[in-house]
Amino acid sequence: MASDALNLTNVHAFYGDSHILHGVSFSLQPGGVLALLGRNGAGKTTCISTIIGFLKPRGGEIRLFGEPIEGLSPERISQLGIGLVPQGRRIFPSLTVRENLMVAQQRENTADKPWNVEGIYSLFPRLRERHAQFAGTLSGGELQMLAIGRALMGNPRVLLLDEPSEGLAPLIVHRSRRTKSPVCTRRCRSRGDPQYRALCVRRRCRGYSE
Ligand SMILES: Nc1ncnc2c1ncn2[C@@H]1O[C@H](COP(=O)(O)OP(=O)(O)OP(=O)(O)O)[C@@H](O)[C@H]1O
Ligand SMILES: [Mg+2]
Repeated sequence: MASDALNLTNVHAFYGDSHILHGVSFSLQPGGVLALLGRNGAGKTTCISTIIGFLKPRGGEIRLFGEPIEGLSPERISQLGIGLVPQGRRIFPSLTVRENLMVAQQRENTADKPWNVEGIYSLFPRLRERHAQFAGTLSGGELQMLAIGRALMGNPRVLLLDEPSEGLAPLIVHRSRRTKSPVCTRRCRSRGDPQYRALCVRRRCRGYSE
């Protein structure tokens, strides 16, 4: 049986003594899309930080295509194929648009990989127009396109997007659905019951199968 692209089983994470993730479990199929929904402070960013290795889980398992990754460094997890578009974008303001993309390019031969600078410019033509502009002078929506483009430059097998549509026009949000195996977070209203503090929904991603 094919492995899940990403699988979390009973994951617990803490900041000091604050217990934030209480046994989170979900799975993402190859080619699938999964959204984490929850009110402010529910733990969506914490969940992403735990998957990418910024925060070590104190319990549970995280598997990428069947391989355990919990406890590995963020660098190793990134090399194994998880990309991140962080909340707040974290773009280098004193580099140009093109330079921000190039720093994310992998060192090995990427000729057979789907994403390169030209591919990013085709996905977001506005970035091609702004290629020589310092990133610190971009608009909020342009910055978000650049953050998504930078993550795609690593040709990740699974892409984590924290608040991906923040600042983007609906047309651009629609276009960026071409990416594969994304996990996205989005704020939503609390359902009152703590059981519903975070809610996972899942659907198939059109046009992708592996
Ligand atoms: N570095 C930290 N140290 C201590 N507590 C933290 C830290 N980061 C987040 N928290 C707390 O953990 C909880 C979950 O925060 P998190 O950022 O994961 O929420 P979120 O669901 O992403 O919220 P938002 O929708 O506002 O982005 C919150 O109560 C927050 O105050
Ligand atoms: Mg958050």
